[in-house]
Amino acid sequence: SQIYVPAHPLVKHWVAVLRNESTPPPVFKSAMAELGRILIYEASRDWLVTMTGQVQTPCGVADVEFVDPREPIKVVPILRAGLVLVEHVASVLPATQTYHLGFVRDEETLQPTLYLNKLPEKLPEHARVLVADPMLATGGTMIAAIEELIKRGIDHRLMRVVAAVAAPPALKKLSEKFPGLKVYAGIIDPELNDKGYIVPGLGDAGDRSFA
Ligand code: PRP
Repeated sequence: SQIYVPAHPLVKHWVAVLRNESTPPPVFKSAMAELGRILIYEASRDWLVTMTGQVQTPCGVADVEFVDPREPIKVVPILRAGLVLVEHVASVLPATQTYHLGFVRDEETLQPTLYLNKLPEKLPEHARVLVADPMLATGGTMIAAIEELIKRGIDHRLMRVVAAVAAPPALKKLSEKFPGLKVYAGIIDPELNDKGYIVPGLGDAGDRSFA
């Protein structure tokens, strides 16, 4: 995969807030939502399909370009924590459709289990899909999510991933399995601990948002 860490001071700022163990849950959530907004904006830069036309302004006629409303971005938040990352998606992207996926990672085996799947049986072949999960640790969850999308006819090169923190094991596996997949992350951390948590990371994003 190709990994992008936007060099913006606000990305660093919200990552700093998220990392701090003293940040209380409501602030953690709003920091995650803000980081998500910025990452989605960055991911959409060269990705959205536009149309051209003309509009009448109060002072004349202008040639304009606008986001094609017939090509909504399919947004796939991975529950629970991915919900927070896409909270502001509708204020960034003019046209979206959201399909929820729920995965839980076993604390011992680190294997993900799918417990909620709101994807339609088939998605349009050319659909662009934004997959959101704050943490890419072993990569097991994101790989399983992408495989669900591939089963429904989407090429991984039409997907983009947004994550708050990504770790090398996940990035390595994603690039081996899905060459050309673009990942937008707030930060890349060096390693995982023996419980499969990213170090230094930000702890358990789901628990810190919802517990
Ligand atoms: C965490 C995290 C990712 C996943 C990352 O979810 O939010 O979804 O684990 O780990 P992986 O890359 O090793 O698969 P968790 O299972 O804790 O669910 P939650 O979001 O509901 O807390």
